[in-house]
Amino acid sequence: MSVTSKESPPLQIFRHNESPSDLSAEQKEIVRLKEESNAVILCHNYQIDPIQQIADYVGDSLGLARQAAETDADVIVFCGVHFMAETAKILNPGKKVLLPDLDAGCSLSDSCPADKLADYKEKNPGLYVVAYVNCSAAVKALSDVICTSGNAKQIVDQVPQDREILFVPDQNLGQWVIGQTGRPMRLWPGSCYAHVLFTKESIERCRIEYPDAPVVAHPECVETVRDLADEVCSTEKMVSYCRESSANSFIILTEAGMMHRLTRELPDKSFVAGPTGHCACNDCRFMKMNTLPKLLSCLKGQSPEITLDDTLIEQAKLPIERMLEWS
Ligand code: 13P
Ligand code: SF4
Repeated sequence: MSVTSKESPPLQIFRHNESPSDLSAEQKEIVRLKEESNAVILCHNYQIDPIQQIADYVGDSLGLARQAAETDADVIVFCGVHFMAETAKILNPGKKVLLPDLDAGCSLSDSCPADKLADYKEKNPGLYVVAYVNCSAAVKALSDVICTSGNAKQIVDQVPQDREILFVPDQNLGQWVIGQTGRPMRLWPGSCYAHVLFTKESIERCRIEYPDAPVVAHPECVETVRDLADEVCSTEKMVSYCRESSANSFIILTEAGMMHRLTRELPDKSFVAGPTGHCACNDCRFMKMNTLPKLLSCLKGQSPEITLDDTLIEQAKLPIERMLEWS
C-alpha cells in the first residue's frame, strides 16, 4: 500500500504477506546444493527476501561474524558484501568462503584505503585505531580493534584511557559513539552513500503522516537525522526494539531489505521505509548485487571464492578476535 503526497515521493509501507508462497524451484535447488556441499548460507539483513527465506542465518554484521566464527560447515556462502565475506574468511582460513558477486563492495569501506590509513598512522604515531567492520582486510590489519554498529559503544568503552582513538571509516557512526561514550576520538571522513541520503526534511515529512510511529535509525545516518530518531541502533537491535515497543508502526531509516526481516518476524506490526529526499526507500546497490541466479551458480561452481594472503589473514584476525572477546 502507498500513501501519496504532492511534495514528496509516495511512502512505502511494509506489512507481513499473509500468504507466503512455497519455495521456488530455484530456491529448492539452492537448498539441495547447499546440503550436498555441507555449506551454510549466512545472509545480511539487507539481502533480497528470496535469499533471506533460504538462509541458515539472517542478521547484522556482528551476528554474522559470530556465526562465521562458530560454524562447522565446510563451505560458507556469504550473502552480503565483500568486507563481510572477508571477515568470514579471516575467521575461517581453512574453509571455502563464497560470495555470489565479488563486485558487491561497500562505499564506506572504499572511503578508507589502506595506504592512506598507513600514511596517516605513520604521521600520527601512537593512535589506537578502532575500525568499524565495514572496511577491507588490509585496513583491519592496520587496526587495534574492530567494532560493529551493534557493539561500537561497548568496544570504545574498553579502549585504554591513556590512548587517543582514531575511528575509521564512518564519521557518522564515530560521531554517534562519541556522544554515547563521552570519549573524544579522531574521525576518518568516510560515510555510507546510502544512509546519508536520508534528510531531516524527508523524515520530518514522513513524521507528519505517521506522528505516532517511532523513528528507528541506523547510526550511519547523519546527525540531523539521528537527532530525530527515537532509537539509533544496529539492524539486529531494530528487530528487538520494534518487538519490545508497544507501538504498532515504525519509520525505519536504513536499507530497505531490512523490511523483509521485520515483517517476517513481527507480522502484526507495520513498517514505513524512511524516504530520502528523492526516493520512497533506500536500497544499497552493492547489497542488491546478490541475486538468486548468482547464488545458484555460485553453489553449482563453488565460485567465486574469497582468497586472502596468509600474512594478511594473521594480521587482520587479531583485531577481530579482540572484538569478539570484548563483546
Ligand atoms: P549492521 O551491522 O547494523 O547490520 O550494518 C551493516 C551495514 O552495512 C550498514 O550499512
Ligand atoms: Fe556499505 Fe552502505 Fe551498503 Fe552498508 S548500506 S554495505 S555501509 S554501502
